[in-house]
Amino acid sequence: MAAFLIFFLFISTFCLATTTAQQNHPNISLGSSLTPTGNSSTWLSRSGLFAFGFYKQGNGYVVGIFLAGIPQRTLVWIANRDSPNFSSNVSLVLSGDDGRLVLRQTGKRDLPIANPSESISSASMLDSGNFVLYNSKRMVIWQSFDHPTNTLLPGQKLVANQDLISSASETDDSKGIFRLVMQGDGNLVQYPTGIPRVQDAYWTSGTSGSGPNITLNIEDDGHLFLINSSVNIIVNLTIGGYPSDKIINLMKIDVDGIFRLYSIHLDRGNQSIRWESTNNKCDPKGLCGLNGFCTVNDTEVYCKCLPGFDFVDQGNWRSGCERNFTAESCKTKGSDKFAIRHEHYTVWDRDSYDEFDTKTEEDCANACLQDCNCEVAFFKDQRCEKQKLPLRFGKRSTDSNVALVKVGILGSTDSNIALPKSSNKEVRKDILVSGILFFVFGILILSTAVIFVYRNQIWGYTKIPPNIYVKFVEDVAPRTFTFLELEQATNEFKEELGRGAFGTVYKGILPNSQKVVAVKRLERVLATEGEKEFQNEIIVIGKTHHRNLVRLLGYCLDGNRRLLVYEYMSNGSLADILFKQESHPCWDERIRIACDIARGILYLHEECETQIIHCDIKPQNILMDDNRCAKISDFGLSKLLNHDQTRTYTAVRGTRGYVAPEWHRKLPVTVKADVYSFGIVLLEIICCRKSVDWSTSEDQAILEEWAYDCYEAGEIHKLVGDEEVVDMRKLERMIKIAIWCIQDEPTLRPSMKKVLLMLEGTVEIPIPPSPTSFLSAV
Ligand SMILES: *[C@@H]1O[C@H](CO)[C@@H](O)[C@H](O)[C@H]1NC(C)=O
Ligand SMILES: *[C@@H]1O[C@H](CO)[C@@H](O)[C@H](O)[C@H]1NC(C)=O
Ligand SMILES: *[C@@H]1O[C@H](CO)[C@@H](O)[C@H](O)[C@H]1NC(C)=O
Ligand SMILES: *[C@@H]1O[C@H](CO)[C@@H](O)[C@H](O)[C@H]1NC(C)=O
Ligand SMILES: *[C@@H]1O[C@H](CO)[C@@H](O)[C@H](O)[C@H]1NC(C)=O
Ligand SMILES: *[C@@H]1O[C@H](CO)[C@@H](O)[C@H](O)[C@H]1NC(C)=O
Ligand SMILES: *[C@@H]1O[C@H](CO)[C@@H](O)[C@H](O)[C@H]1NC(C)=O
Ligand SMILES: *[C@@H]1O[C@H](CO)[C@@H](O)[C@H](O)[C@H]1NC(C)=O
Ligand SMILES: *[C@@H]1O[C@H](CO)[C@@H](O)[C@H](O)[C@H]1NC(C)=O
Ligand SMILES: *[C@@H]1O[C@H](CO)[C@@H](O)[C@H](O)[C@H]1NC(C)=O
Repeated sequence: MAAFLIFFLFISTFCLATTTAQQNHPNISLGSSLTPTGNSSTWLSRSGLFAFGFYKQGNGYVVGIFLAGIPQRTLVWIANRDSPNFSSNVSLVLSGDDGRLVLRQTGKRDLPIANPSESISSASMLDSGNFVLYNSKRMVIWQSFDHPTNTLLPGQKLVANQDLISSASETDDSKGIFRLVMQGDGNLVQYPTGIPRVQDAYWTSGTSGSGPNITLNIEDDGHLFLINSSVNIIVNLTIGGYPSDKIINLMKIDVDGIFRLYSIHLDRGNQSIRWESTNNKCDPKGLCGLNGFCTVNDTEVYCKCLPGFDFVDQGNWRSGCERNFTAESCKTKGSDKFAIRHEHYTVWDRDSYDEFDTKTEEDCANACLQDCNCEVAFFKDQRCEKQKLPLRFGKRSTDSNVALVKVGILGSTDSNIALPKSSNKEVRKDILVSGILFFVFGILILSTAVIFVYRNQIWGYTKIPPNIYVKFVEDVAPRTFTFLELEQATNEFKEELGRGAFGTVYKGILPNSQKVVAVKRLERVLATEGEKEFQNEIIVIGKTHHRNLVRLLGYCLDGNRRLLVYEYMSNGSLADILFKQESHPCWDERIRIACDIARGILYLHEECETQIIHCDIKPQNILMDDNRCAKISDFGLSKLLNHDQTRTYTAVRGTRGYVAPEWHRKLPVTVKADVYSFGIVLLEIICCRKSVDWSTSEDQAILEEWAYDCYEAGEIHKLVGDEEVVDMRKLERMIKIAIWCIQDEPTLRPSMKKVLLMLEGTVEIPIPPSPTSFLSAV
């Protein structure tokens, strides 16, 4: 086999060498141009199989490479994927003046189609489907094969950190909602686009840890495989051997999120699927929009809404679903306004804020009815998980999970409402159909599985062990400690971890459990002087359970000494990792951290029993646990301690730091003050620098101003270091979200829920105004 591979390598090197030496393909010289409707709209490869140029899409054109030699033209590469379709009065020019390949539109700036580092001397459309640009020494300086879009052609490879992104629809080749990533860890993984989270992967090759420079390759005969830098096959996705005479085999990630190997017959134009990453069309996550779940009848895939929900956009089953009733506040009306409806056999993305063991489905349903924050609960294997809307990534499954959905009781005539164990006939039919499908595809799935099964990694993605969720007993109040106990635990307050506005933090070890803890000794005068009030506040804080909040384990109330005992965070604070050159987290990790923080704040604002405004969101108050998961600390303390301490925050030379402007204007402080602080922290996370830094030039010193200036000037790339690999579209999204958050006018700032949806890429982000443009009268 090694011999074969070396031979293959030799052949491919040889081919590469010959393509550069031989002139057996049309030579596109400087000054050549194309127009969509003129005599020449494309440059053909020698055999006429592939064409580079204008491709009609809807009533406009895109620039790309397509199979021109077959009756049904098929795009295999798209330039400037997210620019709008071009009208017929544009031209594509290989400019002789400056050696660039640009799209020329009258009255507009030239739009570069490729960005080689040197100036171009000629170009060529090769018969392999590769469009190549050469310099004056006829060396390849750019090739379309290095910039894959949604298709991989024989000879092309997907290298580490490259991805293929599906098209938006069959008739629109701008970026869609699914991606296939060749990860740096050697794993080939499919995700929904947006923030990559390990648990959102819906397919993986299971080759994590197999080496750094793994590539995905495809050969003429349809052999699709992963290979490492010393030419060892890591895994075969297909074994190949498909006919390649008059047939082209190619791989493509389709609009539906599944990637497939196709054989296309060049004369007849017919095509067939040789292999696909899954035969369950509901596997790709995100097909259905929020609160909808994916289901299959026969071979049709479509989405349904949760009971009590309708499609946001009636004609479009992918639009997601919303409640068909107005949720009244149950705080005033009581739980009799709501009922529970059941949706059996569905699985969802789980993001519970509370979970506990319980015997029956009814108990779980009742727990949800009685909890104002609960909008849906999942019951499975005697475990009940309470969750907020929206629900994500739902699909029909044989899993015994039940979704218990809280619906308004008014206006409903459904008699089986609120009756547990109601089994809906329609549901049964669905199950039967999916059951049959399951059986039919079972064997196929099995054979695919055999390839992967001993590579245990794959299961790590699909099955999240329940114990990664924070477990706790309901309503446990934090325990009390005596001062002596804490003095011993901290070895007489020896090891200081940090010093904050509220007091000093020491490391300690609880004698009984040997648990490492952080003990905060409150130093300032307390606003809530009385012991009873202090205890009440502590109970509020102690009842908050969320994976992005630091847990309060206990407290000590001894004379006028007040101490709080928290879980210990081993990786320090966000400030430690963000502002030190050596430890900058990478871009993807930074986005994840921002989402973690947003989730924690959202919980404080909307999901815990008593609304908590943090009032002091800043990197020093965000701690990192063993897994570098961000957790917010010090929440609840601003109420416990004197508010005015936060108010007297001395601003640096007229800047505001993290403190929202309303603090200075004696306006009522709302949750939107935290949104402001989050916006500043988000900018710091994006740029890995402090919000105020006078060591830089004057115009850059105040981050929020510099960021807006860069955004307005279309120069956001200046905000991140040159050496960093950052997706510019994601960067722009992040900057826009941050600018919305730091609006001076609190009502313009989005809610934390909206912020999170924007961060996750679920909703569109409008263009933000200048933060100071709507300054309310002081
Ligand atoms: C192709 O273009 C290069 C550079 O413009 C030129 O040197 C060469 O002679 C051309 N070859 C043919 C066959 O036209
Ligand atoms: C198209 O080709 C015809 C004949 O070769 C020529 O007369 C005409 O000017 C060309 N049109 C354009 C727009 O180049
Ligand atoms: C291009 O045209 C198609 C068909 O008219 C349309 O669906 C699509 O949204 C357009 N794409 C862009 C980016 O304008
Ligand atoms: C090009 O076409 C667009 C849309 O059809 C139109 O708005 C624009 O004015 C045209 N430009 C020229 C120079 O004809
Ligand atoms: C992986 O590829 C990069 C870039 O080509 C290279 O710098 C690095 O040395 C390679 N690593 C290994 C282990 O081959
Ligand atoms: C490639 O894979 C083979 C077999 O799995 C392994 O022995 C070899 O060390 C790997 N090479 C690199 C550069 O990782
Ligand atoms: C992959 O397939 C090739 C033949 O196409 C075979 O020689 C090789 O042993 C296979 N490798 C693995 C890891 O299955
Ligand atoms: C195309 O159709 C012919 C006859 O209908 C069939 O034999 C052939 O396998 C098909 N080819 C592909 C690639 O689907
Ligand atoms: C499958 O569902 C689609 C969409 O709801 C519907 O149009 C179609 O008739 C259904 N097919 C069958 C066989 O039930
Ligand atoms: C909401 O939808 C359910 C079906 O899912 C229906 O029974 C109920 O009457 C609807 N309620 C309103 C107010 O439209």
